Amino acid sequence: MKHIPVLLREVLSVFEGRELSTFFDGTLGAGGHASALLEAHPEIERYLGCDRDPVALELAKRHLAPWGEKVELIRGAYADLPRILKEKKVSAVDGFLIDVGVSSMQLDEKERGFSFRGEAALDMRMDPEGELTAEEIVNRFSEKELARIFFEYGEERRSRQVAKAIVEARKKRRIRTTKELVDIVFPVATKGRLHPATLVFQALRIVVNDELGQLEKGIQAAMEHVAVGGRIAVISFHSLEDRIVKNLLRSDREGWKVLTKKPVGPTEEESKINPRSRSAKLRAAERVESDE
Ligand SMILES: C[S@@+](CC[C@H](N)C(=O)[O-])C[C@H]1O[C@@H](n2cnc3c(N)ncnc32)[C@H](O)[C@@H]1O
Repeated sequence: MKHIPVLLREVLSVFEGRELSTFFDGTLGAGGHASALLEAHPEIERYLGCDRDPVALELAKRHLAPWGEKVELIRGAYADLPRILKEKKVSAVDGFLIDVGVSSMQLDEKERGFSFRGEAALDMRMDPEGELTAEEIVNRFSEKELARIFFEYGEERRSRQVAKAIVEARKKRRIRTTKELVDIVFPVATKGRLHPATLVFQALRIVVNDELGQLEKGIQAAMEHVAVGGRIAVISFHSLEDRIVKNLLRSDREGWKVLTKKPVGPTEEESKINPRSRSAKLRAAERVESDE
């Protein structure tokens, strides 16, 4: 499935009327937001597009070819912003965007193990060279640690029962595939509106990719490397992420003005066209002159 950029109009409006020279896009994906921003801001001189996933970068390369050398593709994690900017000899950026989580393409590539539908190796790494896989976690972490992960990162109410079922199952044989994990989790996890494996898969994905750590470090780094007058826009997809964003982008922070008192969600029309947008929240802030 083609990835449809979420809250596109809303992201464009954060940067509307701003003079952008250098822009950092930490989650380039297929370059959906990127192409719209480049289109709307012909004054952009350098568009630094970063992604952990080489497949995404390959797609973005094709999609963003019309902008030629303005676009610089970077394979890496956006929380490494300080190192990336140093290597690129950039001291500050005028715009910073992150649109976290997995892309529709990553979910569709069954063999990467992000989806609980179908059967694939329990992988879930966005960066195929990352050290930790979901298989490692379910087979190696203690029952207590698994329960904590499912509770904290999945907000799964039956986290202890799920952890116990996994530990019982792995005594018999190593858990290797998404289907094997779904079969273990299904009978014990919370039954509700979502597929019972949803929260467990979410929790594993967050740990495998250190998603919350990346978000926190990435925004902190951005707050140090955005120029005065520059803006930060962050799209998150669940409450754990939004809590981090809200806590960092606060008006009482010296030198920052929050542009979104409440997080901006999708219009009814967008929710209908793109179900992935339903839980999306955008927050944005501007760096202002500081008295300090
Ligand atoms: C939701 S998609 C972004 C889609 C993009 N905005 C577009 O319009 O096409 C998220 C992308 O961010 C990447 N990603 C997630 N966390 C990352 C991180 N910490 N560092 C770099 N890339 C990351 C994923 O590999 C994925 O390609």
